Amino acid sequence: MESQGSGRDGWSSRSAFILAAIGSAVGLGNLWRFPAEAGANGGGAFVVFYILCVVLIGLPVLLSETLIGRHGQSSAPESARRLARESGASRHWSILASLGVFSAFMIVSFYCVVGGWVLHYIWVFISDLFQTGLTGGAFQGRDPAEIEAIWPSLAGNGALTVGLDFAFLAITLFFVARGVSSGIEIMAVWLMPAFFILLIAITIYGSFGGAFSETVDYLFTFEPEKLTGPVMLAAVGQAFFSLSLGVSGMITYGGYVGRNVNLAGTSVIIASADTFVALVAGLCIFPIVFAAGLGANAGPALMFQTLPHAFQSMPLGSVIGILFFVMVGVAALTSSVALLEVPTSWLMEKTGLRRVPAACTIAFGAMILGALSALSTNQLADFYPLNFIPLFEGQGVFDVLDGLTSKIFMPVAAILTTIFVGWVADRRLIDSETGLSGGLQVIWRFLVCWLCPLALLAILAVGIFPDSI
Ligand code: PFF
Repeated sequence: MESQGSGRDGWSSRSAFILAAIGSAVGLGNLWRFPAEAGANGGGAFVVFYILCVVLIGLPVLLSETLIGRHGQSSAPESARRLARESGASRHWSILASLGVFSAFMIVSFYCVVGGWVLHYIWVFISDLFQTGLTGGAFQGRDPAEIEAIWPSLAGNGALTVGLDFAFLAITLFFVARGVSSGIEIMAVWLMPAFFILLIAITIYGSFGGAFSETVDYLFTFEPEKLTGPVMLAAVGQAFFSLSLGVSGMITYGGYVGRNVNLAGTSVIIASADTFVALVAGLCIFPIVFAAGLGANAGPALMFQTLPHAFQSMPLGSVIGILFFVMVGVAALTSSVALLEVPTSWLMEKTGLRRVPAACTIAFGAMILGALSALSTNQLADFYPLNFIPLFEGQGVFDVLDGLTSKIFMPVAAILTTIFVGWVADRRLIDSETGLSGGLQVIWRFLVCWLCPLALLAILAVGIFPDSI
């Protein structure tokens, strides 16, 4: 299918675009990163601020990105350049998208490492099912310490983490190489509904575990004193990561959308679905964790070390474990595909390469950077590449790539995007793309012109230099 009759591959329908965009947004960011960040940043204060960020900053940036893409019908930088040219502005504004392409490349490299961990846990639960059978919990007869040891023995094994990373990257490459309508779209249309069914089933199951009200208190009790600069920066970074913003992901996907699609309404659907999944993931994971008497602030290990421990006390634990990690893997795949598509579409356009060689070239680069991330929990555990910068002190390659993209590059790209759409681009072009009028248009302009850039600048400042304020 083509969008626009331009000869370019594109989504076959509006719902295909919505599912693919939701597939891009919903991923490890919601299921693994959101609960870990909420737990590490004090629960309620983080969550409430996160929701505010999604509505007031995420939504306008999402609309800005999709409209740049839809207007340009090209790769992200070319779309931004086109809008700039038609607005009589400097073509250098495309830097906002180039920065995003670079971030997407960095993210896909470490994202597939986590995808690889997920593959390992699917295998762990499958082999447990074969060993212990259907009755009772997972890991029967095994000591809790033995279960917790699964995580360090994976994280500490360089050959395994690198091998799994490559495996997950290869699956991602397969779908990207097939193209938009016959690869990415087909995957999203089948996998996203399956994902939602699994998520709801596991959450209902977990809510019978008893610690549901404790979880609700934990996630939604707002304690203002906990809202420090770094917590705010973590929340805004999480909102961008989760909504796939600031990495040109939504500009790229917007580039495959036809003129008949209402972008504002679609953006609301995408942001609502993504936030819904993050909150449900919290409501799904924390009751299991609390019911087993475990701590909420285990960070990245929450899903991989704490949660499997909790499956031990559940009836049908190994089946639930398999389903849970398959669900996470599905969500991760629809996002890693989006991440790989961003630099692939850029390279295709830049060099005239066809899709398969372009995707393979980017994947090769991601393999190298990904291997460094995969090794940062083992062989390279003591390698701190940006140790001289306080924000990244004591962090390995994996954490540096994650922090650099979500806390610096994504917010900076978003600031540039809102300034470009709010102040630089031709207002008539923007208005015809958003289709907004009346009060909604006034609110949108206020958010994109003023609130987003200023709030983001302020959050970046207090987040990076918490002591100077
Ligand atoms: N939004 C994805 C997640 O929450 O896991 C991550 C992501 C995908 C970020 C695609 C950026 C992107 F372009």
